[in-house]
Amino acid sequence: MKNIVILISGGGSNMAAIVKTAQRDNWHDKFGARVAAVISNKASAGGLVFAAENGLATHVLDHKAFASREDFDAALASVIDRYEEPGRPVLLVLAGFMRILTSGFVSRYEGRLLNIHPSLLPAFPGLHTHQRAIDAGCQVAGATVHQVTAELDHGPILAQAVVPILPGDTADAIAARVLTQEHRIYPQAIADLLRHQ
Ligand code: GAR
Repeated sequence: MKNIVILISGGGSNMAAIVKTAQRDNWHDKFGARVAAVISNKASAGGLVFAAENGLATHVLDHKAFASREDFDAALASVIDRYEEPGRPVLLVLAGFMRILTSGFVSRYEGRLLNIHPSLLPAFPGLHTHQRAIDAGCQVAGATVHQVTAELDHGPILAQAVVPILPGDTADAIAARVLTQEHRIYPQAIADLLRHQ
């Protein structure tokens, strides 16, 4: 069985979309894959409730309890690696996980570490993407699913979705429009990856 481990920090709506698609499309039989666990760096992350209600293992690793980024990432990796099965490395999915990972962590999981970012990369890596798109006079916004590499919000692009920026839009309005598309492209990109493995 290929185990998928999802990392979250907040509401976890992308995680929920992935879990629902995996159930609906029977990734278990189709790809020999399942979402095995959800890990949050915040105990208050709303997504943990959904994950537990859906029978997934949940873990909280509070980054503030660790002296350094390296220590946190080492603890994170040791939890993730519990889900490895012989010959079947974990697929690691960042879904609103708001921590910068060390290059050591990224290289350990490189090629099987995915992220979704709320902009049309390579435009607007980092934070406040929708406000920056408004300020730049962009007419479209969007989201990108990409492989994670050492450079923040870079790495090979697997899927993108575009939405319009409408007159008078706030960053929140764009975020909601983009999020709907995220829920479509992220599960689809993961299914495409599983299909070709
Ligand atoms: C999503 O919009 C995701 O693209 C973004 O956080 C939100 C999480 O929502 N991720 C980042 O900004 C990563 N840098 P969710 O918790 O409801 O899935």
